[in-house]
Amino acid sequence: MTPDEMTTEQLEQRVRSLGEWFHNLDLKGVRTAPHHFLGDFPTVFWNRFQHAFPTDLKGKSVLDIGCNGGFYSIEMKRRGAARVVGIDSDERYLAQARFATQVLGVDVELLQMNVYDVGALGEKFDIVLFMGVFYHLRHPLLALDLLYEHVVKELLIFQTLERGSDEVGELARDYPISERAIFDRPEYPKMHFIEYRYAGDWTNWWAPNRACTEAMLRAAGFDLLEHPSREVYICRRGQRPTAWGAVYPRHPESVQ
Ligand SMILES: C[S@@+](CC[C@H](N)C(=O)[O-])C[C@H]1O[C@@H](n2cnc3c(N)ncnc32)[C@H](O)[C@@H]1O
Repeated sequence: MTPDEMTTEQLEQRVRSLGEWFHNLDLKGVRTAPHHFLGDFPTVFWNRFQHAFPTDLKGKSVLDIGCNGGFYSIEMKRRGAARVVGIDSDERYLAQARFATQVLGVDVELLQMNVYDVGALGEKFDIVLFMGVFYHLRHPLLALDLLYEHVVKELLIFQTLERGSDEVGELARDYPISERAIFDRPEYPKMHFIEYRYAGDWTNWWAPNRACTEAMLRAAGFDLLEHPSREVYICRRGQRPTAWGAVYPRHPESVQ
């Protein structure tokens, strides 16, 4: 039976059979995660920064990494994107996204893929969404390097869990080895390592402070355009000196 032929009860049943949803979508009146611990998620979150997002995506290609139940992929199609590809490492979430896009009649290409394998896509996308994945990775800077190298043509829309200070400030390009106090300043980039769990979730590996998020994005070659809401960054692919390797970059100033 196609979703079009389903009654509300059948839709509800199918939604529940797909397991616990992280995205609360409205599938013809059936809510996929009505009791989400973050409220009407991610709509409430999206409403905080969607104003900063291009409204007309006509002709644009979009890659949604960690697409989950498909909320952002669907929004990108609603904004007119010509092509949206959603990838996620978890087949459970992809099954939800497949069903949601079918019910809503939205054309999104969905692939099971790990972010570390994005090179296998063999193409770059005008816009890449990398929302809510970074802090779940054991190797977050490697992932940013791979995005820069393989898939981001124009814009990167980035979100990460952040903890610690929100302060950012000018830092010197170098400090003598006798300098220690700088590391304890709130505006110094810090990545908090989570050895066991955070919020009951063992897939939370890292929690950067804001200065660290910004520094890592820059170090991977992205220019920060906007910070429309806490934890959200709109970035443009910048210039990276050719001598600066992609996966094991040296700082450009160390390259003669
Ligand atoms: C917190 S959810 C964020 C979902 C969505 N992007 C959002 O912002 O609402 C993290 C998603 O990333 C996926 N994910 C985690 N690690 C991944 C990896 N290494 N490669 C691809 N997807 C991954 C998870 O399966 C999950 O769907």
